[in-house]
Amino acid sequence: MSQAPDRGVAERLDAADPLAHFRNEFVIRDPAQCYLDGNSLGRLPLRTRAAVLRFLDEEWGGRLVEGWQEWIVEAMRTGDLIGRTVLGAGPGQVLATDTTSVNLYRLAAAALDARPGRGTVIVDAANFPTDRYILEGLCAERGRTLVILDNEDGADHERITPARLAPLLGPDVALVSLQVVQYRSGARQDVPGLTALVHAHGAHLLWDAAHAAGSVPLHLDHWGVRLAVGCTYKYLNAGPGAPAWLYIAHAEQDRLQAPIQGWFAQADQFAMGPHFDRAAGIRGHAVASPSIIGLRCVQAGVSLIEEATMAACAHKCATGTALMVDLVDAWLTPLGFTLGTPREAEQRGGHLSLHHPDAALISAALRQRAGVVADFRRPDAIRVAISPLATSYCEVWDGFARLRDCVASGAYTDADLGPGTVT
Ligand SMILES: Cc1ncc(COP(=O)(O)O)c(C=O)c1O
Repeated sequence: MSQAPDRGVAERLDAADPLAHFRNEFVIRDPAQCYLDGNSLGRLPLRTRAAVLRFLDEEWGGRLVEGWQEWIVEAMRTGDLIGRTVLGAGPGQVLATDTTSVNLYRLAAAALDARPGRGTVIVDAANFPTDRYILEGLCAERGRTLVILDNEDGADHERITPARLAPLLGPDVALVSLQVVQYRSGARQDVPGLTALVHAHGAHLLWDAAHAAGSVPLHLDHWGVRLAVGCTYKYLNAGPGAPAWLYIAHAEQDRLQAPIQGWFAQADQFAMGPHFDRAAGIRGHAVASPSIIGLRCVQAGVSLIEEATMAACAHKCATGTALMVDLVDAWLTPLGFTLGTPREAEQRGGHLSLHHPDAALISAALRQRAGVVADFRRPDAIRVAISPLATSYCEVWDGFARLRDCVASGAYTDADLGPGTVT
């Protein structure tokens, strides 16, 4: 058994943390709670509350319909902010809009239409359910075959190496869809390597970066990524249901046909002409009136990262998850846990996956009795995350100490699993 880092280690990490003061930027109702679920829903930034109130009072309330003079470009303006702050994307390639699911559908449909002679779509078995369901539906609708890459065989924490993907690729593959950071295991994929491999076969590769945006460095332009989607309510702290984003590299924007021809993509929107005439560039992939309140939330959350810098956020995720790995080795492995996430920082995101046969009960007991918020993912994983602006190292250490005590004492076996609708 390895020696556990004592609490002084976490205290010293906090004292030296250049991001520590950002914790004061968030609503923290219960300072004793260990909130380790920022990979599911980030905390509420104080400035979001202020921005929404300002929007209501001054913009909607004050300017009424005149507000659209500025709001009309808000999805693109916010997309550029996300692009330069988080995605490594130059201007004019990101829209802040809709949900990850809807954006995935739109880009996958456009990618399939761009490869009419090819009949195969590839997705990994461990991909997020909505991605798999949407691709299943699209394949049924358009007469394509969905091939599932099996990365749930316990090997390599769901990582997809080029050697694993290559045998499935060929001239019939139209589209491959993968996650940058696996939602369950937390493993990070080799984005530039896999992108180059898939593109070399003439197929599109659509990345879901929901768990990567705000936790790891992304360089979409530099890596040659053409299509990506993600959400803003996790590490970007924009709130439940806040607008998601989509990225289409410049080179693809006018080649891809948008599956929904909405008026926000019309070249001369207010001419109200009889036929659709798509605007050039990323605006040609917009659809309709965006939620301006939602976009204000996205701007507030991402502005915090802009001040902190993405490099510092990624560094804290790497350091915080390394602290977690040390605590797993020292405390949790002897209690029957196994680590479901790569040990190398550059192969993971901001969360760890901890396997235990009683994971569902333990996760419930942590929330109900120990003031620790993590989450449970079937079949046997507890996910624990560090959200770099809002989580302190001591919060991580304390959360793990309570997890250890909860399991060691057996004080979880009678936890209430409830109706089980949301885990
Ligand atoms: C990786 C990933 N993709 C897609 C989604 C679905 O996002 P939405 O409900 O915003 O469409 C989630 C939600 O957590 C996710 O984690």
